[in-house]
Amino acid sequence: MTDKTEQDRVLIFDTTLRDGEQSPGATMTHSEKLEIAQLLDEMGVDIIEAGFPIASDGDFEAVSAIAAQTRNAVICGLARANLGDIERCWEAVRHARRPRIHTFIGTSPLHRDITKLDQDQMVERIQATVSHARNLCDNVQWSPMDATRTERDYLCRVVEVAIKAGASTINIPDTVGYTAPRESAALIAMLRERVPGADEIVFATHCHNDLGMATANALAAVEAGARQIECTINGLGERAGNTALEEVVMALKVRNDIMPYRTGIDTTRIMQASRLVAAVSGFPVQYNKAVVGKNAFAHESGIHQDGVLKNAETFEIMKPEDIGLSATNLVMGKHSGRAALRAKLRDLGYDLGDNQLADVFVRFKGLADRKKEIYDDDLVALMQDAASSGGDDHLKLRSLRVVCGTEGPQTADLVLEIDGQAHSVTASGDGPVDATFKAIEMLFPHQANLQLYQVHAVTEGTDAQATVSVRMEEAGRIVTGQSADTDTVVASAKAYINALNRLVVRRTKTGPRVMSA
Ligand code: KIV
Ligand code: ZN
Repeated sequence: MTDKTEQDRVLIFDTTLRDGEQSPGATMTHSEKLEIAQLLDEMGVDIIEAGFPIASDGDFEAVSAIAAQTRNAVICGLARANLGDIERCWEAVRHARRPRIHTFIGTSPLHRDITKLDQDQMVERIQATVSHARNLCDNVQWSPMDATRTERDYLCRVVEVAIKAGASTINIPDTVGYTAPRESAALIAMLRERVPGADEIVFATHCHNDLGMATANALAAVEAGARQIECTINGLGERAGNTALEEVVMALKVRNDIMPYRTGIDTTRIMQASRLVAAVSGFPVQYNKAVVGKNAFAHESGIHQDGVLKNAETFEIMKPEDIGLSATNLVMGKHSGRAALRAKLRDLGYDLGDNQLADVFVRFKGLADRKKEIYDDDLVALMQDAASSGGDDHLKLRSLRVVCGTEGPQTADLVLEIDGQAHSVTASGDGPVDATFKAIEMLFPHQANLQLYQVHAVTEGTDAQATVSVRMEEAGRIVTGQSADTDTVVASAKAYINALNRLVVRRTKTGPRVMSA
């Protein structure tokens, strides 16, 4: 099956679970990956790149499970240009209703040096690996990694070989975010014009954001004839990230007058996807991020507020509801019932089943006991906190009592559950947070360095919740953790424990990274 579609339809290929997860520190657990994949499928993503099956057993299992659960989207796995990778990938995606193998090799001079293949040897490798993939699966995508820095004649030659060997999608990656819009368009136009068989396949664009041009480069490629955009939620990805799904999708919707292309995305699920990915990846969305940032629809200046109140179109080019943002900020409190909470959460983009709602309701009541007025941002923080503490966590906080103030020493009495067993300890430190982190380390010794510790108030007031983010590094592995609580020290302890749980997952990932392909 090929994905050749009508002329104005642009396929959305989401690689949050593969390229996004490669972002240092963005490790996701198995159940988090399944949850993201389900949401991507529901919101109309055409192709989900679910992972890199050879990278680790965890990746393999996640891709297999996503393949088995997904109803609509094509499920794609990544494989380097060797038979072992391709076979492992096929094993993982084969149970999908619509499987795809995505195989790649670095074709630029820099990458040919690394693989020690000359131009002819690389052509042979591409021919052999793409045909092998095609013998296993009738939907094969091929990528010349670092295409934008590959000699143009050679790029035409390898693309032609891959098409002849059976690839039905040719992806053109700007691996290091080096290209610019005019060049991105010219590259696709040249390939379409010069490569025999180009009109039989779909060209994809895959841009990185090192110079802040990923969205512009992807849209320029579409104008030149690319019909698949590779992107991630929130632009998550290595270094400066990938093209952001929400940006290209909303740009095509809002400026359909000059870019007459359509996607199959239900844009009202965008905010939900953004929040989910921010919560599970531990990468908060910057406040002024296009489309999904907290300030994207906030009007601070008097002139803007006045204009928006009189006519929203004065300063808003899209409506908050278009991306699933609730139009009202109805305050909730301890007298709010389960039905009101369900309705409010649905407004915020969280559609919960009965069991999930029961769990969140308990957390909500706990928060309402400590905080009189609960705003939308409080509920989002609560949902993110619930998402980041999974039932299968290795470490769980049972209780914490700290002594702090001007008369030292500051101490922390901690009870921590490790694989279901409760352990307790008392530690002292330079302040309550230091004492708490020392107590955790005494019960769960590790070599990770704390690289970042950050506290943000979710709303105003002294009873506001604090969101704490931590980033830790152990032997080159970077993990992040996040949590929210009205008690800053408790939020700190939970964020630290969350990061350690991710470290435990990360330690099992020993496989190759894409850049060493
Ligand atoms: O950026 C890149 O080149 C990639 C390829 C593996 C497609 O992610
Ligand atoms: Zn990439």
